[in-house]
Amino acid sequence: MHQKADIPQIDYWYYIENIIKEVLQTYGYREIRTPAFEHTELFVRGIGETTDIVNKEMFTFQDRKGRSLTLRPEGTAPVVRAFLEHNMSRENPLAKLFYLGNMFRCEKPQAGRYRQFNQFGLEAIGSQSPLIDAEIIQASLEIYKKIGLADLKLIINSVGCRKCRPKYLKALKDYFRDRKELLCSDCRERYDKNPLRILDCKKKQCQKEVKNSPTIFDYLCEDCKNHFRKLREYLDSLEITYQVNPLLVRGLDYYTKTAFEIISGELGSQNAIGGGGRYDYLVEELGGKYTPSVGFAAGIERIVSTMEKQAVRIPSWEGIKVFVATVSSEDNSSALKIVKQIRENGVSAEMDFLDKSIKAQMRLANKLNVSYVLIVGQEELKEQKVTIKNMSNGQQEKVAISKILPYIKTSQEE
Ligand code: HAM
Repeated sequence: MHQKADIPQIDYWYYIENIIKEVLQTYGYREIRTPAFEHTELFVRGIGETTDIVNKEMFTFQDRKGRSLTLRPEGTAPVVRAFLEHNMSRENPLAKLFYLGNMFRCEKPQAGRYRQFNQFGLEAIGSQSPLIDAEIIQASLEIYKKIGLADLKLIINSVGCRKCRPKYLKALKDYFRDRKELLCSDCRERYDKNPLRILDCKKKQCQKEVKNSPTIFDYLCEDCKNHFRKLREYLDSLEITYQVNPLLVRGLDYYTKTAFEIISGELGSQNAIGGGGRYDYLVEELGGKYTPSVGFAAGIERIVSTMEKQAVRIPSWEGIKVFVATVSSEDNSSALKIVKQIRENGVSAEMDFLDKSIKAQMRLANKLNVSYVLIVGQEELKEQKVTIKNMSNGQQEKVAISKILPYIKTSQEE
């Protein structure tokens, strides 16, 4: 176990990725790997033309045949594309999938916001039950917990459906009509294109106007109301604490009913460590039949950053156990064979590849902080032996080549 300063970044990544895979396997989610880029059309239709992602943040380019391609800004639309292309519903009425991968958004880089970043995400395609919303939330919180993160907040909302949302949008527009001039320039544009997004504008002048705006809860249809009530009931029975925030609307247009975000106080202005929700019409939008679905994704860099700030301790690479040193280059073949034998038995071993003198090899072994140095020289080889130096107490002993492993393993256990 190490403290923050010693931990190479890659150890955090291995640690996080292993936990994601372990936890999601216990929930029955299978990994899916989709390409890094897709036809631009997929994201325009999937995420929505009026969103910031599609309008301003996509890395879009033409291939040699003039087709428009885009580096994936998120994982949900590609997973749904793959779900349709491979007819996954035929095998299973509920496809439970997860992914890990890099995403690309051409945003202004700042702490916690990068143009290339990594997400893990999970998608459950095919169920309309709020039970699966609860499962997705539970699985993501369990991953954060196993990673060792504390003080995360779950915020939930319902953003309605095709039936009730238009009524709410009309009410919002009616309300903001006379206040339009008081909103920021982005929100004045949102008024026409996507009034829901005014609700989560971070600018003070807009937040002031939003305060008394109509709330979605007065407009939800019976189906959406029941869905949200059931979800809260399931979260309560799982003893998951949450806050309901009717202003949580999320930045992607495909959401229906449940929307949620998990935030960390440690992250400053980019405080969402993950977010998700239901997207009941996305499969249809992308050419399939009505297939209600729900999912979640989290930014791995933001997880690492929260871990560092909370000084989460993780097991890290133990380094090299054994260094096999040679007295002269004549001993190289024998050393190579000995290293191979040690590694094949699951013990890490290194040797010299730079023609160093035996003294320099001993210095290197010291630097690598190995537990044992094996000295291979002609004299010992004649007796089919090597000299083993125990680096913790400096003791040296001649040991038969065939006994090297039992020797190392038993003295390790002592
Ligand atoms: P999102 O909220 O856009 O949702 O992104 C999910 C998470 O990715 C964010 O909460 C954040 O942790 C991380 N993230 C987003 N943008 C950046 C960035 N520029 N730099 C670093 N981290 C970032 C989605 O992407 C949806 N596909 C989630 C989903 C899955 N909904 C349903 N299924």
